[in-house]
Amino acid sequence: MNKTANTKYPINHLAINRWSPRAFLDKPVEPEKLISLFEAARWSASGGNEQPWRFIAGIDHDETWQKIFSTLDPGNQEWNQHVPVLIIAVGNRISSWDGKESGYFQYDTGQAVAHLTIEAMNQGLHVHQMGGFSKEKASEIFEIPDDFQPLTAIAVGYIGDPETLSEKLRQRELQERTRKNLSEIVFSSRFGEPSPLINSK
Ligand SMILES: Cc1cc2nc3c(=O)[nH]c(=O)nc-3n(C[C@H](O)[C@H](O)[C@H](O)COP(=O)(O)O)c2cc1C
Repeated sequence: MNKTANTKYPINHLAINRWSPRAFLDKPVEPEKLISLFEAARWSASGGNEQPWRFIAGIDHDETWQKIFSTLDPGNQEWNQHVPVLIIAVGNRISSWDGKESGYFQYDTGQAVAHLTIEAMNQGLHVHQMGGFSKEKASEIFEIPDDFQPLTAIAVGYIGDPETLSEKLRQRELQERTRKNLSEIVFSSRFGEPSPLINSK
């Protein structure tokens, strides 16, 4: 199965090989590898260096893992049963500059998760982010303060065999990956006008 990005222009090998699998090996992640993922997130950029990200990490079906699993939507629970590490990324809504809601906490936390994801690739692991979980339930069972908002659940582990998935999920696992063209996302002169940087040939 080849899920690598079919790039039009050269990019680094970690980004080429990154994708979001559903089949994971039932194999623990070494703690020294896992800690590097959080270290990469820690060194991410953020507006005003506020570092609004927090992470709740459940490991090898421990109590935290079970709690995170219980918040996942049924469709996500189906393929997460064997995932060794489950994380919830939480963002601090409130800016320490003025005590008001920050305009960047979601952006910053997402960027930290991107760093975590690329470090996972560097450690030979894969990541699959999930919006499909109950933020209300997560806030309740982890007693997350009101100033903080659960943003995504994250599965981390070694990539597994699609044959272990149900037929429906296996089909999705084998689907071709698609992306918009660069001309649809990189503009010049006015919004929507493709940049001349992009060769439209
Ligand atoms: C914020 C966010 C929420 C997502 N939620 C889910 C989800 O609930 N369930 C799921 O299976 N995949 C989820 N995904 C994975 C996306 O479907 C996936 O990243 C997208 O289809 C692109 O595929 P790729 O990551 O393999 O390139 C989510 C990804 C992100 C970034």
